[in-house]
Amino acid sequence: MDTPIPNDLGAFWMPFSANRQFKAAPRLLTGAKDMHYRSANGRKILDGTAGLWCVNAGHGRPEITKAIQDQAGEMDYAPPFQMGHPKAFELAARLTAMAPDPLNHAFFTNSGSEAVDTALKIALAYHSRSGAPGRRRLIGRARGYHGAGFGGISVGGISPNRTNFGGLLPEVDHLAHTHNLEQNAFSRGQPDWGGHLAEELNDLVALHGPGAIAAVIVEPMAGSTGVLVPPKGYLERLRAICDAHGILLIFDEVITGFGRLGASFAAARFGVTPDIMTLAKGLTNAAVPMGAVLVSGEIFDTFMDGPDNIIELFHGYTYSSHPLACAAGLATLALYEKENLFERAASLESYWQSAVHGLQGLENVIDIRDIGLTAGIEMAPRDGAPGMRGYEALVACFEAGALVRVTGDTIALSPPLIIAETQIDELLTIVASAIENIS
Ligand SMILES: Cc1ncc(COP(=O)(O)O)c(C=O)c1O
Repeated sequence: MDTPIPNDLGAFWMPFSANRQFKAAPRLLTGAKDMHYRSANGRKILDGTAGLWCVNAGHGRPEITKAIQDQAGEMDYAPPFQMGHPKAFELAARLTAMAPDPLNHAFFTNSGSEAVDTALKIALAYHSRSGAPGRRRLIGRARGYHGAGFGGISVGGISPNRTNFGGLLPEVDHLAHTHNLEQNAFSRGQPDWGGHLAEELNDLVALHGPGAIAAVIVEPMAGSTGVLVPPKGYLERLRAICDAHGILLIFDEVITGFGRLGASFAAARFGVTPDIMTLAKGLTNAAVPMGAVLVSGEIFDTFMDGPDNIIELFHGYTYSSHPLACAAGLATLALYEKENLFERAASLESYWQSAVHGLQGLENVIDIRDIGLTAGIEMAPRDGAPGMRGYEALVACFEAGALVRVTGDTIALSPPLIIAETQIDELLTIVASAIENIS
């Protein structure tokens, strides 16, 4: 049945969207179940992106819906400052039990952006409190995405997200990104070339002095700029350099957490543990907004000094650990476990890899990369119109019945972890034909 389309699309200022282009030809979603969305005109759309890298268990899962409904009926809201409710403590305990040691404390936020800003603040405050207030410099990476807050765009490395927004945070540097078509095009899984790029951190230590850098933040796999898989040895090297110089390592796992790479977290997949981890998206299967920052016991304990009545960290949000989000988070983690969804993602990886690399050879495709249940399919930009091929692919896929995400001319795929092999074939058939029909 067709859902009526609102006749005035003007008032809503859409985020990260070409508002005028969209409103001239809207793509409205009105329902979602398991692997599919439903469009306003009643078509089924195969979800090739888990919403926005977040609906890892698939859409409309009754266990999660019921948990949210029950919680709304029982207690809609509880203030998180100087008060608590049981599910916040339970979720923190469950979450930290899933995370690698020593990440055993959780601070809740409402989004990935807030998680990143929180993590940067914790890193700076940690050094301040542990006798190294001179460590104020934050290191991000080119092509990194860490949300849309001022902290996140400062350490982030995407130019349009940074320009026009003033001076941003001071004392920030960026490592080079690891994307290199000459060396690594069509790599399957982790590329062989590029581990040495982590050595740039040593150059920054030499430049600023050994006691100047507070933290390095990276996405273990950079998602938003088109699935940039860490080269072999790269994350290990970053960890070692951070250890050698007392620098905190922050993994932004907003995308890579909760099974996306075939393990609980990228840290587990790659065997490299950060000091701080940021999470969001799959934490609640996106049913209620929520983010989290996990920290090591050593960081947490650094704040737990002074008189008991003193607030240790002057930071938080009205909706930190919102009861509906906690209920959704608990139901989501239980579902991941009950259905072994992380293991399922791992067991699908080789089928997925073969399917996505099957698009090699299509016209204009200059790279295909993958890890876990993600893929980046990069097309050459059209002369004088970068991004147009990507946009046309998005529209063509949507019209043919699949939701994909594009960044520039790269198609990024990240389906829910419940995807069936036949649906992988269907998704890649739609994507291939979209690419073939783009000039
Ligand atoms: C790695 C990473 N960090 C942070 C964010 C920001 O999350 P949010 O949009 O929930 O603020 C994103 C969003 O895509 C992300 O991919």
